[in-house]
Amino acid sequence: MTPAEQAVRAAIARRGPIPLDEVVEIALYHPQVGFYATGGRAGREGDFLTSPEVGPLFGAVVARSLDGWWIEAGRPDAFAVVEVGAGPGTLARTILAAKPACAPALRYVLVERSAAQRARHAEGLSLEDPAAAFASPLEPTDDREPTSAVMPSGPIVVSLAELPRLPGPTVVLANELLDNLPFRLLQRTDTGWAEVRLGLDGDGLAEVLVPVAAAGLPAAEPGARLPVSAAITDWVRDAVALAGPGGRVVAFDYVASSVDLVSRPWTEWVRTYRQHDRGSMPFEALGTQDITCEVAVDQIVPAPIVSTQADWLRRQGIDDLVAEGRRIWQERAAIGDLAAIRARSRITEAEALLDPTGLGAFHVLEWPGR
Ligand SMILES: C[S@@+](CC[C@H](N)C(=O)[O-])C[C@H]1O[C@@H](n2cnc3c(N)ncnc32)[C@H](O)[C@@H]1O
Repeated sequence: MTPAEQAVRAAIARRGPIPLDEVVEIALYHPQVGFYATGGRAGREGDFLTSPEVGPLFGAVVARSLDGWWIEAGRPDAFAVVEVGAGPGTLARTILAAKPACAPALRYVLVERSAAQRARHAEGLSLEDPAAAFASPLEPTDDREPTSAVMPSGPIVVSLAELPRLPGPTVVLANELLDNLPFRLLQRTDTGWAEVRLGLDGDGLAEVLVPVAAAGLPAAEPGARLPVSAAITDWVRDAVALAGPGGRVVAFDYVASSVDLVSRPWTEWVRTYRQHDRGSMPFEALGTQDITCEVAVDQIVPAPIVSTQADWLRRQGIDDLVAEGRRIWQERAAIGDLAAIRARSRITEAEALLDPTGLGAFHVLEWPGR
């Protein structure tokens, strides 16, 4: 039995069958025995590959978008970007490596709840003390002129465990965060909807169905299942408030409609990953594998503006960056230096990011700040 399963069994022994969001919370985020506390992570040497981990191109496109939003906002001299679920920090590193024009104004906050992942943020990023990084400029006094030296020049990068409180407008980014937030499962029965909970069954764990009153759910055959995530709704509410008027929230993820989800086997949309392979059944081997769930996009309030990742990346100029890469490669192929190899890699990275059967079919969810 895994240590995470022991923790789940202890919770069930105290309170009876527990909802699956509590199981996911323990399996992924328990501070000692959860998957993300014990080394699970994105990356080639980790458990799954995300868009920033494909290579630097995704970050270069996001850097270009940040510049566009910064210019649109009138080039504010403190431009706050909060990346939530930052994992090991690869997106931040690749954004900064792309040297966006907004860099001198940039206050970049990585938010990551796993301490093991946060420990990686200092690799290749020069982290500042959050309190100093967001200090207000000194007020002018009789004997001291306000100078630009009062606010340090960016990019200023800080790493936090939770969402900060910042005066908006702020850009809030999240790549593959929402699919990793805890969710409950409902099941259609002959008589209505029930919630799937996990209880004890001898030495093992067993599903228990608890009838629930549910309104507004799609028509479904008995046995069909549907994920419901209060954590996603709560996160979107907090992120939209953090972005504030004039800010924006941009989340990249795999999504589906509730109608689609009830028509497919639940093990198709709740997936597990371990060391780049699919893991075992979602509620087995707890703590040793990632558990992800396709995001039921129609359940999110407020409703996002939705694009495919391929369309969004094209709108943000990925084709220009690839054309530039192709040109540099043609000029430098004979030299074969790092610049040439990086330029050539843009072409293969773009193929992966735009692949309509892969990352290109992911979606980008956008909300204006409020
Ligand atoms: C699938 S990984 C994605 C990592 C990275 N964004 C990437 O694309 O490679 C999701 C990350 O979100 C983190 N996470 C989950 N819930 C969080 C929350 N409420 N606040 C901050 N980080 C969270 C997890 O610990 C994990 O590192």
